[in-house]
Amino acid sequence: MGEVDPAFIQEPEHRPRISYIEGKGVPLIDLSPILSSSNVSAIEFEGLVKQVGDACKEWGFFQVINHGVPLEMREKIDGASRKFFAQSLEEKRKVRRNEKEVSGYYDTEHTKNVRDWKEVFDFTIEEPTIVSASHEPDDTELTEWNNQWPEYPPDLREICQEYGQEMVKLAYKLMELIARSLGLPADRFHGFFKDQTSFIRLNHYPPCPNPELALGVGRHKDGGALTILAEDDVGGLEVKRKTDGEWVRVKPTPDAYIINVGDIIQVWSNDRYESVEHRAMVNSEKERFSFPFFFNPAHYTLIKPLEELTNEQNPAKYWAYSWGKFMNNRKRSDFQKLNVENLQIYHFKISE
Ligand code: OGA
Ligand code: NI
Repeated sequence: MGEVDPAFIQEPEHRPRISYIEGKGVPLIDLSPILSSSNVSAIEFEGLVKQVGDACKEWGFFQVINHGVPLEMREKIDGASRKFFAQSLEEKRKVRRNEKEVSGYYDTEHTKNVRDWKEVFDFTIEEPTIVSASHEPDDTELTEWNNQWPEYPPDLREICQEYGQEMVKLAYKLMELIARSLGLPADRFHGFFKDQTSFIRLNHYPPCPNPELALGVGRHKDGGALTILAEDDVGGLEVKRKTDGEWVRVKPTPDAYIINVGDIIQVWSNDRYESVEHRAMVNSEKERFSFPFFFNPAHYTLIKPLEELTNEQNPAKYWAYSWGKFMNNRKRSDFQKLNVENLQIYHFKISE
């Protein structure tokens, strides 16, 4: 069975293929028209909106260049993250995530009950982040999530906070384009993120002796609104192509961000845009680093199809659900091995 602990081994049908399709990849979109917001022509802007709309519809994924996030910020978080993960396990576990502190370090995450070949460090954007205290529907008690910052590297905290602010700025710009692509006012989504529960994950995927049996992160959909992923030049992210269900490898593009629509946009748009499955492969030689930013609304947001996008011919496809309770359900299942499937948005689907 090789050297990998059985907990990491994927069922045969979910194992990665070592030779992969690089075919027609996810669309690459140049955001320079919105960088200089003052003098963008209406035609240029509409062109960009159409590209974003088409990418959301056809792929649920796209890459952006000329996004306005300084390269220096990205290099800094990459450097600090390498320093943090290079420490001993004992050192890293000093900021270990636990049932009370959901942010911090951990190396035992499971996706669909198979262990992921990775270690991570999570931090939230809002400090503290206000959330529901439990997953129980009737419990109205709130609690705070606070970040745990390591001693080393000493500038990690400041770098992460600065990077987080850049991600929030980019996320609002992207949500404006997505809103326009759905025929909505640009700021239609802004209000949902006032007390956001967004977080950033520093991912470290160490080399794996049996990359054909394990995955860095198993197949999943992102539960939030939008994800903005930075990755290094190693590559490994695979996206399930909507047209034929094949896993397609995303080729790393220097200084690009990979954007994907999460479950919340799927519900808001009443399935016009779908949250697409993805996973990350590992390899036997190189370690890999990636940094997803998960743009999530306030805990008190009721997620349901937008009224503007539904009517008698196209009725709402989902019942409303509470984002805070949804999140708590997910967090809870991370800790307790509940012998049930994770809560998913299709559980809120209205049967036709
Ligand atoms: C995730 C994710 C992909 C990657 O953390 O949700 O999909 O390439 N990561 O790290
Ligand atoms: Ni993901």
